[in-house]
Amino acid sequence: MKILITGAAGQIGTDMLPLLLDRGDEVVVFDLAPRPATCPDGVVWLRGDITYPEEVNTVVEQTRPERIFHLAAILSATGESIPHRAWRVNMDGTRNVFEAARLFAVTQVFFTSTIAAFGPGLAQPVGDDVPLRPTTMYGLTKVAGERLGEYYENTFGIDFRGVRFPGLINAGIPGGGTSDYALFMYVNGMRDGRYEAFCTPETKIPFMYMPDAIRAMLELSDAPKENLKRSVYNIAAISPSAQEIADAVKARLPDVVITFAPDPRRQAILDSWPQALDDSNARAEWNWAHEFDLDAMSDDLMPKVRALLGDPTIRV
Ligand code: SER
Repeated sequence: MKILITGAAGQIGTDMLPLLLDRGDEVVVFDLAPRPATCPDGVVWLRGDITYPEEVNTVVEQTRPERIFHLAAILSATGESIPHRAWRVNMDGTRNVFEAARLFAVTQVFFTSTIAAFGPGLAQPVGDDVPLRPTTMYGLTKVAGERLGEYYENTFGIDFRGVRFPGLINAGIPGGGTSDYALFMYVNGMRDGRYEAFCTPETKIPFMYMPDAIRAMLELSDAPKENLKRSVYNIAAISPSAQEIADAVKARLPDVVITFAPDPRRQAILDSWPQALDDSNARAEWNWAHEFDLDAMSDDLMPKVRALLGDPTIRV
């Protein structure tokens, strides 16, 4: 199948490209960033700016994908530093993708939403159908993306699907998210022997290991439409405290020193997010099940981080 991925140079796309090629998909990337050295052969890498509708239209018209995985976005921490840019990329960029999909008859658009779509004060674990009152620019643009996708589905018949991701952890370069403290514990812990987290040790939000996250996207994208009662699903895996993540790193790297110096702005964002998600709809309707708990993730991740740190083509 021919698949277009926006923002594939980011944290999710980097790990997703080889998996799509492995299953025989034809993959086209649309990204502002140049083709990275790690991009597998066989991927067509087209550079462009998602905020310009004519550039998005041209790439969709010329490549005619059946599905678009729309990953291009500014994450929460960066979004609070440059909110105008987050609006342009996440709002205008997302509308440009839906509009190009409508104009050139793309069958399915897959959208990556987030725990940041939720705001504070919700009963835990947080289900799919609660009021969405995000406090960040990132969160509000993701809520808008969910609703815009439903609009394009109801009005123009585009098959719209999406997941609300927990914080994602992989052997990669953090992408400007507030959940990045978890990834930094592994990467900085292995590179520098120490890391000072910008949150409290008690901070608890949902996390997921990237192989589970990518599998969730592909399984929902492929699920029979008649089984799906909604467009966007909570998906969950683990909800460790920051201290528990630090302990998992320390259990495998005994000399590491992880300390906590909460940054008030980032802590406030983390405190506004769910501590745990209720993903029972995803589990019932398309058999979602995560595979990696904190220990299995840490065991799998740490050799990959070590390899990443030894790769001279990647700046970590
Ligand atoms: N990982 C994201 C962030 O921290 C949450 O979706 O912005």
